Amino acid sequence: MIKVGFVGWRGMVGSVLMERMKEEKDFKGYESLFFSTSNVGGEGPELDFPVPPLQDANDLNLLSKMDIIVTCQGGDYTNGIYPDLRKEGWSGYWIDAASALRMSDESVIVLDPVNRKVINKALKTGIKTYVGGNCTVSLMLMALAGLFKAKVIEWVSSMTYQAASGAGAKNMQELIRQMFHLTNSAKDIINNPASTALELDSRITDELRSGRLPAENFGVPLAASLIPWIDKAVANGQTREEWKGGAEANKILGTKTPIPVDGICVRVSAMRCHSQGLTVKLKKDVPLDEIQAILSSAHEWVKIVPNNKEDTIRDLTPVTVSGKLIVPIGRLHKMTLGPKFLTAFTVGDQLLWGAAEPIRRILKIVLESGKGMGKD
Ligand code: HSE
Repeated sequence: MIKVGFVGWRGMVGSVLMERMKEEKDFKGYESLFFSTSNVGGEGPELDFPVPPLQDANDLNLLSKMDIIVTCQGGDYTNGIYPDLRKEGWSGYWIDAASALRMSDESVIVLDPVNRKVINKALKTGIKTYVGGNCTVSLMLMALAGLFKAKVIEWVSSMTYQAASGAGAKNMQELIRQMFHLTNSAKDIINNPASTALELDSRITDELRSGRLPAENFGVPLAASLIPWIDKAVANGQTREEWKGGAEANKILGTKTPIPVDGICVRVSAMRCHSQGLTVKLKKDVPLDEIQAILSSAHEWVKIVPNNKEDTIRDLTPVTVSGKLIVPIGRLHKMTLGPKFLTAFTVGDQLLWGAAEPIRRILKIVLESGKGMGKD
């Protein structure tokens, strides 16, 4: 029987992956083994079949017995284990949510509603390393898939509004602790009907600047503010998160001539949905109704939100999208810059299409292909 090893299934992305796999009844047709870096011998996830005790995620010998390894453990684990496993001749499938191997020549970045052809070709040619993309890039591509497929995009600028979840579980908790701290610090003003907004602002601003807010993870307050910097600096004034926009999008799409994708990535106080304001330069003047038809026909998860206030505030926010697989795109209109300039706004769940879902789906695709597992 095919053996699939899961590493990092207990972290945030791993937990969402487990939930989705349970929902879709994915644990079928193979033997699942669960690994741990810190709790060997402990209990695995609760599933509707008996799960053996946790195995050692650093045991190369055991790992090399897996046909497929799925890891959400993070880049350090990948960097520490993957090269040695391959060096020892392991030829199984490595499916990874971390960024470590994304730009490697031996890997494919997976987002099958967008690049199923690239994936199919890779499976055929014997590629064994499949990596989930950066969340912002995957969500932008899910929203704009139709226009990329129609080859009408000259370039894209994406200004992002990224949720706390993208920075990690601790950051999500810290954001709410910051909100709690602020609320507490202004309780007397909030509860006094005679108080003014300026009094409230003054108290909150003082508190934000006091150094008293919990900020071990973000470094500064995010609640009642924003942080226009994500990840580390790279060349040309970009951050690494911004650089990924162009590098990963083009690798996912398998473009021969790269399509420029650039913008500024900003952390905002949403919990788990990344939003993006997009400027798209089209190669030609495509009418708006045609654009909408192209976008909505790309795959089943993209949803056009009509460009009016009522639909926008109801359907195009993190509040609505959180925990869902839909990727709405709205505010679609031609810009006053000219008929080839399209603008749009999109929202997607960072933990679903931005992280766990492409991983869940590539596991199924690999299993169905049977390639290298006795079916080919
Ligand atoms: N790097 C992303 C962020 C999340 O910081 O929001 C992971 O893709």
